[in-house]
Amino acid sequence: MPSAPTYLIADAVAFAYPGREVFAQVTVRVSAGVRLGVVGENGSGKSTLLRVLAGRSAPSKGSVRRVGTLAVVEQEMPVVTEQTVGDLVQESLAEVRRVQHALEAATQAFDHAVGSLDDLSGLLARAEHLQAWDADRRVAEALSRLGAHGDLTRPLATLSVGERYRVRLACRLAERSDLLLLDEPTNHLDDSALAYLTTTLRSWRGGVVVVTHDRELLDDVSTAILDLDPAMDGRPALYGNPGYTAYRFAKDAALRRWQVRYRQERQRAARLAARLDESYEGLSDEWRPPKGSDKNRRATRARLHVKAADRLVERLEAAAVDVPVPPPALDFPDLPALPPGFSGDVSLLEVRGPRLQGQLHLPGTRVAVPASGRLLVTGPNGSGKSTLLRALAGSLPLDGGVRSIAPAARMGVVVQDGAFRQSLSERATGFEECERDARELLGLGLLDPAQVVPVVPLGLLSEEDLDRPLAELSTGQRRRFELARALIAAPHLLILDEPTNHLSIDLVDQLTQALLATSAAVVIATHDRRMRRDFADWPTITLD
Ligand SMILES: Nc1ncnc2c1ncn2[C@@H]1O[C@H](COP(=O)(O)OP(=O)(O)OP(=O)(O)O)[C@@H](O)[C@H]1O
Ligand SMILES: [Mg+2]
Repeated sequence: MPSAPTYLIADAVAFAYPGREVFAQVTVRVSAGVRLGVVGENGSGKSTLLRVLAGRSAPSKGSVRRVGTLAVVEQEMPVVTEQTVGDLVQESLAEVRRVQHALEAATQAFDHAVGSLDDLSGLLARAEHLQAWDADRRVAEALSRLGAHGDLTRPLATLSVGERYRVRLACRLAERSDLLLLDEPTNHLDDSALAYLTTTLRSWRGGVVVVTHDRELLDDVSTAILDLDPAMDGRPALYGNPGYTAYRFAKDAALRRWQVRYRQERQRAARLAARLDESYEGLSDEWRPPKGSDKNRRATRARLHVKAADRLVERLEAAAVDVPVPPPALDFPDLPALPPGFSGDVSLLEVRGPRLQGQLHLPGTRVAVPASGRLLVTGPNGSGKSTLLRALAGSLPLDGGVRSIAPAARMGVVVQDGAFRQSLSERATGFEECERDARELLGLGLLDPAQVVPVVPLGLLSEEDLDRPLAELSTGQRRRFELARALIAAPHLLILDEPTNHLSIDLVDQLTQALLATSAAVVIATHDRRMRRDFADWPTITLD
């Protein structure tokens, strides 16, 4: 049997910004039928690796070799003004069209007497490989199955963030490239779109590399998982079994071995250090002998002690285990339930019959959130989840209906990703932005200084990252920052739109536990299958 073609070989690849290594020693091989999942903490370099594999960034060490066609879906999607849905479709079909035209021209010009059949059959094979005759149908199918906008004249800038992402994903899937590189593709997909993505990837005839925090997707499609969080040897680890569950099991076992080894080495190092102390004590005793003793003997013994002590230092250094700093764990603050002067016998927040021109109309619906209450908002893409959340948060004025909120209630809001960047200065650091927010709230008298939640102990971002310009942070790090920012005012009510998007798997687990336990009221819109199961007993509004 012929072996499956290999489309990508990355050998000992590293990437560094000046003075800052992002990852090193990544070795992967992607052949047809391989679907490599890539995981790791926010900021561990997943998107950077994908760009290096795609040839869009050069590695600082190592080599990347690729053959065949390539399609890439990056994590973010800057909107180019004037670009339409049709432009994206044309971009995806460019190679197919080129081959179709070349084939047509070659067929028409073919001279049956002297023409070379080889040239023609080369083009035919290429068209066959790209399944060129089927390309338009594939695009139409992918657009419709992902619930993406099919109107080709529609400018991308007029679509919602999620709609834009789905159009782009549909186009790239329809290309049927030999190598498909996806960065967090599930962020804006509802259940039926996820099912389509899963089936498409499972039957992909080429190779796939998919960066994702979606545990179910990893279980359903990955044939192996690359974890960029350094293992005990300081390198990223490749887990060769399919699925998330197998990876979790292997990683937990490796972590336990690492902890045991670390404890043993620490104990050994402590014993050696104690002996070293004794040795140096002996040495200093030797240097303070009574006057008149034998100077030669003193000098010889001192040298022996120095040698013994040096040997111990060497052994200590050899035994030291170089353990990378673990990612910080979320330390969710104690949030208050009741605003001052609020008894809690009416709703903390209430919206009745909201109407927002063309986006949402729920006549006769009453959405009420009591103090410490919970509300889950679900529904397919485009059903108006974000609009309802914005109406609840008061950031969109209602065209009809009524909104009321308890006086002095503080809200912490995390809007859908992609929407928050406009309000931030990208050159400012996280610390500066948090300080500005806190000062504003203090100035308005909505918060007193003792209530401000300090940002570093939250464990969402390290002090070093909070001191960097926001533009330098990874997408997930910026999302962590948004969450931190929503918490600093010690809110009585949290409104979170798709909070799992871009966050690492571990943080989503920790956040879920915190949201189950907090005294504050919580309103969440999420498409995340796991999170919906975890909050299954919350009061729910399903939009359609
Ligand atoms: N211009 C820059 N200078 C220095 N460091 C940078 C710069 N741009 C990005 N970084 C850092 O590079 C690291 C890798 O970023 P990358 O976006 O690849 O992470 P990621 O694993 O994809 O994260 P996420 O889970 O948030 O998507 C991050 O720590 C980020 O802060
Ligand atoms: Mg990323």
